[in-house]
Amino acid sequence: MKLLQGTVLSNTWVSPRYKHMSIHAPEIVEECKAGQFFHLKCSDSFSPLLRRPMSIYKIVKKEGEIHFLYLIKGEGTKCLANMHQGDQLNMFGPLGNGFTLQTEWHSLLIVARGVGLATMAPLIDMATKQGIATYAILSARTKGDILSADYMKECGAEVVSLTDEDRDSDVEHVRKMVENVIDSKSIDALFTCGSKRLTNMLKGISLQRKIPGQVAMEENMGCGSGMCFCCVKPFNRGGEIVNLRVCSEGPVFQLEEVMEL
Ligand SMILES: Cc1cc2nc3c(=O)[nH]c(=O)nc-3n(C[C@H](O)[C@H](O)[C@H](O)COP(=O)(O)OP(=O)(O)OC[C@H]3O[C@@H](n4cnc5c(N)ncnc54)[C@H](O)[C@@H]3O)c2cc1C
Ligand code: FES
Repeated sequence: MKLLQGTVLSNTWVSPRYKHMSIHAPEIVEECKAGQFFHLKCSDSFSPLLRRPMSIYKIVKKEGEIHFLYLIKGEGTKCLANMHQGDQLNMFGPLGNGFTLQTEWHSLLIVARGVGLATMAPLIDMATKQGIATYAILSARTKGDILSADYMKECGAEVVSLTDEDRDSDVEHVRKMVENVIDSKSIDALFTCGSKRLTNMLKGISLQRKIPGQVAMEENMGCGSGMCFCCVKPFNRGGEIVNLRVCSEGPVFQLEEVMEL
């Protein structure tokens, strides 16, 4: 992990609510892993004071690039959205523990919603490079918010998109799709990010079918590096309730450890 200045290469609108930012930061790309994040200083001024956590969306090692895909939500992300090509972005990272893949796995199922889509995209790239097949069920409010589907397909995933506007994103429908994919594709592991309801549902299936799973958690963060304890959440680790920091002990956790969200 490093504190560094990256150079903004591009920062473009990809939908009415999301921007895609690419950063030149060759000194750090080799360390970056799917599921990790950077804590970004969104402005040179006093406000917003706290950095904002942002998952790594894409790692282009050859070009020394790190990409973020982000929803413009409040003060911090509005400042990020105002950055231009050539600006310097103060970045702290990569932080946290990323996803892990077992060598004996042949196929994974990814279920992601909303900003969780950004977190999952590099996992598909990582799995494909290890010869693991990936299936992704992506859910969002609108078709315009299903932004990483094309990139995920490019990386090798078979992708299904569901949206609230098409009324096919409710949890029961997603559950049926998950069960179909598990049965037809012999899924070895489940991965999720971006929705409490989908995480609860997937944890149930994971326990019932004895398929291991991992979840990338989101929590409000202060330091991002394990010092302030503002991101602590309870987890069930081997039957014992333990308080863990999402930033440093996560953000990726075993699905079975997550308490009902
Ligand atoms: C590990 C991690 C990875 C993330 N990756 C992405 C990503 O790839 N793309 C993306 O669009 N968003 C991502 N988020 C969510 C993103 O950090 C928040 O949307 C952002 O911090 C909101 O800041 P804001 O100032 O614009 O909004 P505000 O609502 O003004 O933020 C106010 C405060 O709440 C905190 N906050 C608000 N929402 C969240 C949230 N969901 N999670 C954590 N803190 C929050 C902010 O840090 C800030 O301190 C991630 C969050 C975490 C924890
Ligand atoms: S954000 Fe400070 S300990 Fe996690």
